[in-house]
Amino acid sequence: MREAEVVTAAGRVLLAHLTDLHVVGDGCDDELHVDNNARLAAAVESIVAESPAVDAVLATGDLTAWGRPADYAKLAELLTPVGCPILPLPGNHDDRDGLRTTFPGVPWSDVEHASWVTTIGDVRIVALDSTLPGKPGAEFDSAREEWLREALGRVHDGPTILALHHPPFRTGIDWMDRSGFLGLDRFTAVVAEHLPDRIVCGHLHRPITTMVGGVPTQVGLSTIEAVHLDLADNPRPRLIIDPVGYNVVAADGPTIVTHTRFVDPENSAFEPSWADLYA
Ligand SMILES: [Fe+2]
Ligand SMILES: [Fe+2]
Repeated sequence: MREAEVVTAAGRVLLAHLTDLHVVGDGCDDELHVDNNARLAAAVESIVAESPAVDAVLATGDLTAWGRPADYAKLAELLTPVGCPILPLPGNHDDRDGLRTTFPGVPWSDVEHASWVTTIGDVRIVALDSTLPGKPGAEFDSAREEWLREALGRVHDGPTILALHHPPFRTGIDWMDRSGFLGLDRFTAVVAEHLPDRIVCGHLHRPITTMVGGVPTQVGLSTIEAVHLDLADNPRPRLIIDPVGYNVVAADGPTIVTHTRFVDPENSAFEPSWADLYA
């Protein structure tokens, strides 16, 4: 009998993909649909408790409610327990300088947009700031096109994950798509030319999977309220309270697998008997 092929975990890189945390600073009097900070704390507690430990936390924007100094102080406090590198990107609710100041260990590129490149194990993460300050939508201007071409064009022996806040495609949820993505065609052309192994993003507040320029693309789920799935033309904006969750991106050589983990303090994992499983 042939032995089963063993897929080794050696060299595997695990990333927790958090997005759209919308953290609120102490003393800020915001009207909230859910307790944003408590829900992030629950996600962080899960990241810390689960085994094996993740190698880094990738946070793809809208990390604060309104980009205030107090919001960033609270964000840093809530993320500290993860005990691994925190790799943040700005979203349309963030402030570039606030993010840079709060996370000085990130290898921020020396450019106006808050983008960076780093490696975790053999995984290269190219993080593109897609924000257009003061607006909800995305912008891919000539400066960012030049930066992205250079970043993706560098030789790298391992998989590449391209991260940005805004989904670089039309999701079909009209009222969210209306925020727009200036330069989307040029972004897609750069992706098709350089073919990173995966694109991860946020902003939509619900998990979505598609292909962009030939690359599998995954929108992560927000830790706060979700956008209601409504694919009708011109729907009313509606939100829905889904469970807290985050993705775990497992990169093992050229294979990248994305898992979704929901977090509910009322429902912890348990071991069934074999009889339960195969009855
Ligand atoms: Fe958001
Ligand atoms: Fe956003």
